[in-house]
Amino acid sequence: MVDQSAAVQTRALRPPLDRKRVYTSQFNNMVRADTLPSRVMVLDTTLRDGEQTPGIALSTEDKILIAQALDELGVDVIEAGFPAASVGEQEAVGKIAKLGLKSRVCGLARCVKRDIDVAADCGLDYVHTFIATSDIHLKHKLKMTRPEVMARAVESIEYAKSRGLTVEFSCEDATRTDLDFLKEMHVAVQKAGVDKINVPDTVGTISPSAMEYLIKELMTVTKVPISVHCHDDFGLAVANSIAAVRQGAQQIHVTINGLGERAGNAALEEAVLALMAFYETDMSIDTRKIGPTSKLVSRLTGYAIPGNKAIVGNNAFAHESGIHVHGVLGDPSTYEAFGPEMVGVQRSIVIGKHTGAHSVKEKLREYGMELSDEQVTQVVDKVKKLADGGKDVDDAELVALASHIVGKREAHQVKLKEFAVFTGMNTTPTAVVSIDVRGEKKTGTAIGIGPVDAAINAIKTVMGSDISLEEYRLSAITGGSDSLCEVTVRIARNGGKKTMSIGKAVGTDIVQTSVDSTMEALDRLFSH
Ligand code: KIV
Ligand code: ZN
Repeated sequence: MVDQSAAVQTRALRPPLDRKRVYTSQFNNMVRADTLPSRVMVLDTTLRDGEQTPGIALSTEDKILIAQALDELGVDVIEAGFPAASVGEQEAVGKIAKLGLKSRVCGLARCVKRDIDVAADCGLDYVHTFIATSDIHLKHKLKMTRPEVMARAVESIEYAKSRGLTVEFSCEDATRTDLDFLKEMHVAVQKAGVDKINVPDTVGTISPSAMEYLIKELMTVTKVPISVHCHDDFGLAVANSIAAVRQGAQQIHVTINGLGERAGNAALEEAVLALMAFYETDMSIDTRKIGPTSKLVSRLTGYAIPGNKAIVGNNAFAHESGIHVHGVLGDPSTYEAFGPEMVGVQRSIVIGKHTGAHSVKEKLREYGMELSDEQVTQVVDKVKKLADGGKDVDDAELVALASHIVGKREAHQVKLKEFAVFTGMNTTPTAVVSIDVRGEKKTGTAIGIGPVDAAINAIKTVMGSDISLEEYRLSAITGGSDSLCEVTVRIARNGGKKTMSIGKAVGTDIVQTSVDSTMEALDRLFSH
């Protein structure tokens, strides 16, 4: 097994997953390869390849926030960007390099002296340099011969080493490169002093078994740690990363949420969990930070996480079918490989066509509603009828349905009497509300980041500090500036008997609709 030299080893290991709470197939153990390293390093390239996702451009401030989150998450190396790409990129990478993070920080550089100088001059001590080696790239892109490419790689690595850098090198398009030439490249760059060699599947064109073959071959000539960088063009980036590790690769390149050029890169959350759960691989990742980091990256990049995305998608721990919910309520291992808390996300029960009484009862209990069995059956029937008609029922609608069936929604406990909001250019949005709380009129004023924030803050001022806004969801129903909007608000009262409530409203004015939905949620919260 290859030793990890001090130049490439970085973070301390995190405790492994609690095996008593992981329920993966026992057959994984039966095919554990002898060549599998016990420790695998993670190089996160969200800030470099991830930023190459069409439509994503991050400000320096956002890049710093993401770098700090990746550091907290525990990645070994953060590829912070491609410093020679622009002045802004150079500035951002330089700032990240100087944050004093526990993760190593590296920057991408072509095998070009200037790129390496820019990386070193912005304060990096680790560079990831690359040149294409496949005949396709040599002929159609670089217009260089194999000996020319090899000479350029060697020269660049020697130069980077002379500048005191840790050097990781990639033969771009390695998986479509002639194997003999690829091996010659590996030998040559090791002679030049490279610290780590990355094997990119640049166009995502290899299969897992072919990746195993390739890494096994490369291991015969490679004494420094091998890394792997897989793209998802065939949806196999994670499988290929794991295949490479099975044959001895000691590092994987990944991105949060699988962002990256075209179909993206191997997703950190999937690759890390698979390695830890299937093979008990030692890693430096704090898995509980995966969910929050994924959300942060989604928010700052503006790139939504698909609901069905493994590990971090909204549906990853959501259970809809009555059979599943029954099982999960009995013991989550029935339908979960591990608990959502292990990756910092939440389990949820979703109401739909396959819903049964257990789901409805449990869901309504979350909102402080206890229904008789007969009432629950009525709710289930209604939900199924709606679902058969193509309508999905969210929490707010379920609560409204149940309230209607329970039928004792008396006079409003909490009623909006007056409401005004002031906003404009160079003005701090300010709102005033008067609310009738069980017959007593109370007035409150607050400011906010925007008019909606100011309005909701004013309501909170009136209703007391134990009320918190847990979720605010806004969607447009039609397409023009006269669109209807739909706002769903989930609020919680800390310490009270009924702790959670939900409200939903539809209207043309976003602020008014937000206030209406908040008032509905509050009224429900207080009507017990
Ligand atoms: O996909 C790729 O080949 C890359 C290189 C820069 C390593 O991102
Ligand atoms: Zn890439």
